Amino acid sequence: MAHGSRLAARGSRLAAHGSQLMAHGSQLMAQNFNFMNHETISNFYNFSGRTVLITGGAGVLGAEMACALVGCGANVAILNRTVATAERLLQRIEQMPATGRGRAIAVTGDVLDRESLLRAEAVIGREFGHVDTLINAAGGNKPAATAGVDRKFFDVPEEALRLVFDLNMLGTILPSQVFGRGMAERSSGTILNVSSMAASRPMTRVVAYSAAKAATDNFTQWLAVHMAQTYSPRIRVNAIAPGFFLTDQNRFLLTDKDTGGLTDRGRSIIAHTPAGRFGNPEDLVGAVLWLLSPAAAFVTGIVVPVDGGFSAFSGV
Ligand SMILES: NC(=O)c1ccc[n+]([C@@H]2O[C@H](COP(=O)([O-])OP(=O)(O)OC[C@H]3O[C@@H](n4cnc5c(N)ncnc54)[C@H](OP(=O)(O)O)[C@@H]3O)[C@@H](O)[C@H]2O)c1
Repeated sequence: MAHGSRLAARGSRLAAHGSQLMAHGSQLMAQNFNFMNHETISNFYNFSGRTVLITGGAGVLGAEMACALVGCGANVAILNRTVATAERLLQRIEQMPATGRGRAIAVTGDVLDRESLLRAEAVIGREFGHVDTLINAAGGNKPAATAGVDRKFFDVPEEALRLVFDLNMLGTILPSQVFGRGMAERSSGTILNVSSMAASRPMTRVVAYSAAKAATDNFTQWLAVHMAQTYSPRIRVNAIAPGFFLTDQNRFLLTDKDTGGLTDRGRSIIAHTPAGRFGNPEDLVGAVLWLLSPAAAFVTGIVVPVDGGFSAFSGV
């Protein structure tokens, strides 16, 4: 009997050891094969405890990103030159359901003024701590930098060209320098640039903007490689390239200011967009959250088109 119970005890120790091995095995499987389930994937999109800075965050597209990120738990700093627009966005955020919501603050800053970005960094540091994620959304075209019937390409003023080029290009590099430094020190962070379809498919008339956004795509690749190789592969840099979203920047090109109907250009865009419509700001949110989340841990240096198929369509 004594011998039998010793054997039974040994048997159950072996069984326990076996199940430990199995548990260890499934941990290994989880690590090696990145086992996913709904909970794991949902957690990728829980941004609680992360601080996100959005330059141009009170703009039409930036505001939608800000709301989505706050809704997913992030603390979001909205940076613009004008405080009033950011404050209107804060009121909108206040109306969102409170459960799981992060916080938002408005910060004054100019993406072309390094000192103002450093001041913004200090304000954000006091409120939320360091910036984990930077979204470079400040940008846009200006009517004065647009060629057309009434302004030949040869006559587009240098000042307007510089303004648009600087805003879209330097205005992406300077914040990446200021806020990327901390990411390099912590060996972790994400940067998301906002490019445009105009980068890969230059738009007629829109000369400086197309060139500057092409430079943004190039910078996205350059910075992705630089950060990963020089500091840490845990710093990722990507971009989204929105197609056509009807906003204040392009309304003058796409709709008739008297009738509100589409201009020839507006009609042509819809005809070249397989989705058959302009984008809505919320159409960007899925790509933004994915690129900022651990679900995209192995994704860096890419530009994701969010364009209703515009870039896929040859027109034939
Ligand atoms: N709308 C589209 O169809 C479309 C398509 C493709 C790409 N994009 C790109 O998407 C981004 C956002 O566009 P959007 O349509 O949301 O533009 P928007 O509504 O005009 O907003 C632009 C934001 O940038 C801020 N800003 C401008 N200059 C700044 C500066 N020097 N420093 C700091 N903030 C500055 C503006 O606020 P303040 O003036 O108060 O500073 C505003 O909040 C831009 O990069 C744009 O080029 C837009």
